[in-house]
Amino acid sequence: MSAPQQPADVPVIAIDGPSGTGKGTIAGALARRLGWHLLDSGALYRCLGLAAERSGIDLDDGDALGALAARTTVRFDGERVLLDGEDVGDEIRTAEAGPRASRVAVHPQVRDALLSWQRAAARPPGLIADGRDMGSTVFPDAALKIYLDASPEERAKRRYKQLIDKGIDANLHDLVKTLRERDALDRGRRHSPLTVAEGAFVIDSTALPIDQVLECVIDAVRRALPAIDVGTRDVSPH
Ligand code: DC
Repeated sequence: MSAPQQPADVPVIAIDGPSGTGKGTIAGALARRLGWHLLDSGALYRCLGLAAERSGIDLDDGDALGALAARTTVRFDGERVLLDGEDVGDEIRTAEAGPRASRVAVHPQVRDALLSWQRAAARPPGLIADGRDMGSTVFPDAALKIYLDASPEERAKRRYKQLIDKGIDANLHDLVKTLRERDALDRGRRHSPLTVAEGAFVIDSTALPIDQVLECVIDAVRRALPAIDVGTRDVSPH
């Protein structure tokens, strides 16, 4: 996954935060609204976790995972995520895929291998970058940094509802526990931990419906990037 560095003149909006805050939904809606590119960095770690599992690579073996990252290709094609050419959209969204990605993501060899690839996603007219370390490490010069938060209980409730709506059996208590464990791993790792980047605008979405969160984000874009036309293009976050 190697690629050149990011062009300096492309504006980036970094959206970071723990899992289940609606980051992906907000990032997608904002990218459509602005007509900008979208980087779902979590999907890269999810793909790498899947590739590791398929190759039988130990999730604690940072060197082997770093080498795997360097020879793996991930491509986004609309809604599709292609791992070495294969659409793995469903496999990277299973219950195991998130925690597995989180384990893969602790290794500096992996993060280094993915860094220039992520920076190269910044192409004109602009990039919305969704992840954990977009504002702190990958795009420290981002024009706007947003940190989206919500309580673990609320995030687990949203996840519970999504699963039940899909007809998938779920246990709220287990979901809270899994989310807390993933938060601890993402916040506690030594390299590029999940943190509020300097200068980030923090939005707590615990009590906010998703369309109001999007409005807050758009207000922040208007203030930070007054020259950008935020328009009225499709903003539906659903
Ligand atoms: O955003 P997500 O749930 O798809 O991310 C899955 C995992 O990938 C997350 O728990 C930690 C890791 N990740 C990361 O370490 N850095 C990122 N920029 C994005 C994701």
